[in-house]
Amino acid sequence: MYIYPATPESVREAARIIKGGGLVAFPTETVYGLGANALSPRAVAKIFAAKGRPQDNPLILHVRGIEEAARFAEVSPLAEKLARAFWPGPLTIVMRSLDIVPLVTRAGLATVAVRAPRNDTASALIREAGLPIAAPSANRSGRPSPTTARTVAEDLGDAVDMIIDGGETEVGVESTVADATGDGVIILRPGGVTREMLSEAARVLTPGGAPLRRSPGTRHRHYAPAVPLLPHRRGDVSSFAPLGRRWCYIGMTEPPEEGEPPLKKILFASAEDYAKGLYSTLRELETLCDVIVAELPEGGALGEAVRDRLKRAAGETI
Ligand code: TXA
Ligand code: MG
Repeated sequence: MYIYPATPESVREAARIIKGGGLVAFPTETVYGLGANALSPRAVAKIFAAKGRPQDNPLILHVRGIEEAARFAEVSPLAEKLARAFWPGPLTIVMRSLDIVPLVTRAGLATVAVRAPRNDTASALIREAGLPIAAPSANRSGRPSPTTARTVAEDLGDAVDMIIDGGETEVGVESTVADATGDGVIILRPGGVTREMLSEAARVLTPGGAPLRRSPGTRHRHYAPAVPLLPHRRGDVSSFAPLGRRWCYIGMTEPPEEGEPPLKKILFASAEDYAKGLYSTLRELETLCDVIVAELPEGGALGEAVRDRLKRAAGETI
């Protein structure tokens, strides 16, 4: 099997594969990434092929810090402030790209997304490879992101040269994507670094409608299980109609007592637990039920990210 434990030897082998133009799936603190040499158009093309990813959806460059980021992007004072506050960590910063980043990596955009993950295996791999690593989440395009090495193998199989197993990921949902090319921060995708945390470090703008145009990934359906997902607002019995179908429930509070009880019910104690367990739970429940009813968490630091993923999994455009 090509799943290896996260040892220094595996990391060295993985770095060799990346330098040779191959694909390596590796753990980050958010979800598993599918990595390749970000500076090689041929290697990056393999990522798009393996995932079945639309070509208009740009990739994130994984680096070790601000100095490295400055070799690939214009690090504005705002971007630098964010990086100093949240790197290494689950924040992706969109900056103006330098020409050295191939167009295929950034899907033809003038900007590039960069982040420094705080997972030890991820940073060791970037250091060992000596290259920026382009890495989307290591799932088939559209599916829930992988939080374990096994899920990567299920989704991508032989399309990846090596998988490094670093156990279950810590955060469970992807990084926050923040555009720092203007006067203030625009959150393009909520994630591991919350709006409140960002607001403490910089001015956060809330432009109506703009994020849809600015983050290409938001155009596509994402994070979806194989069966329909119905988002449920706590107490809203009217929208609650899984009746007559075998349904499962995930949420933070008990489901309404309407009709048949759920086949399986999974309750999370906090929005953080919800985020951590979300994707693996969706993958488990899709094999048991005809429909998944998912409560939208009301609060909690990671509540916004979980709500965003659930709405997208349900096919809502946000
Ligand atoms: O936590 C994460 O971010 C994980 C781990 C592996 O690092 N990666 C991840 O990558 O979630 P991916 O490709 O699944 O999502 C990247 C998101 C997409 O929504 C994409 O459209 C957006 O970042 N993005 C990338 N480059 C961009 C750019 N130049 N401008 C705006 N959005 C960009
Ligand atoms: Mg993804």
